[in-house]
Amino acid sequence: MPLRSRITGTGSYTPENVLTNLDLEKKVDTSDEWITERTGIKERRIVGDSETTSDLCLEASKRALQAADVKPADIELIIVATMSGDMPMPSTAALLQKKLHAINAAAFDLNAACSGFLFGLSTADNFIKAGTYRKILLVGADVMSKFIDWQDRSTCVLFGDGAGAVVLESSRGARGVISTHLFTDGNLWDFICLPGGGSQNPPSAKTMKDRLHFVKMKGNETFKVAVRTLEKLVVDTLKKNNLKLSELAMLIPHQANLRIIKATAERLNLPMNKVAINLDRYGNTSSASIPIALDEVVREGRIKKDDYILLEAFGAGLTWASALIKW
Ligand code: UT7
Repeated sequence: MPLRSRITGTGSYTPENVLTNLDLEKKVDTSDEWITERTGIKERRIVGDSETTSDLCLEASKRALQAADVKPADIELIIVATMSGDMPMPSTAALLQKKLHAINAAAFDLNAACSGFLFGLSTADNFIKAGTYRKILLVGADVMSKFIDWQDRSTCVLFGDGAGAVVLESSRGARGVISTHLFTDGNLWDFICLPGGGSQNPPSAKTMKDRLHFVKMKGNETFKVAVRTLEKLVVDTLKKNNLKLSELAMLIPHQANLRIIKATAERLNLPMNKVAINLDRYGNTSSASIPIALDEVVREGRIKKDDYILLEAFGAGLTWASALIKW
């Protein structure tokens, strides 16, 4: 029997503060009607002033560890997928390791923007398949609210804050991560970017004035590439595994836009009751969106032992990725 990584526990956490579309109407020139029709988002969660990305990671991780019945000291590796860590260094994973008292774990961050959780899943899966580690904590977390321009209506209505975590354990048998597929097209790097604060535009009064420390997005261009790419991604992932769409119990897509999710499902001819949706309540939580949605469907009992589920994501880079799991 092959060595596989199996998700033995899931957890998620979103901040208490709710920001509704009606609240946003008071901040920028937008409307609940526009946001609902164009995105499907009704509200999102926003961190409190002192709440950080590692705080969200901690709560999600505790829940995942409890579900898996694994102690922090048994974790050998922590990967945090994020583009909005507590600080550029040390990694948010190191800060989480401290807060969790996961004293035996190596820890690092990984940034593939909204595809980060699946890039992390693939990384963790390969460590487990290679026999390097047997218990890994993988977290997807982002505090987008601190990196979006609250004066830019084209982006500020889209994002929210949150974290989702999974515990992966090595196991022999048919269940677990079956395959992961990662893609990047750096030529389209400027479709979604945060241009300030790195070595190209180090922080300065000018980068502040030019608002370079906020997310910029070519929304419509990104939308078109996403719809084209995601259908092919799902078809190719199933084909690589000789699986029919009808054998899929659930699709868990990145939660960027309901129109993208519906268009993908329609092109595939997949009924929407097999698609996990939560962006109405959380908006786009970037790296956290898939693990939060996964945690919800697991806790609602919507996926059962031996079900095939497919996870797919799309984000800045541009990056896109998928994972097929036998639950
Ligand atoms: O998670 C990473 C991956 N990200 C994505 O996949 C996001 C992909 N893109 C999208 O989800 C959509 O493109 C958006 C939701 C961002 C925008 O929807 P759209 O249908 O592509 O709208 P648009 O950008 O073409 O803008 C249409 C109109 C514009 O007005 P004009 O030029 O037609 O007069 C915008 O100025 O809507 C206007 N607009 C708004 N109006 C009210 C843009 N944002 C808003 C707003 N409220 N918040």
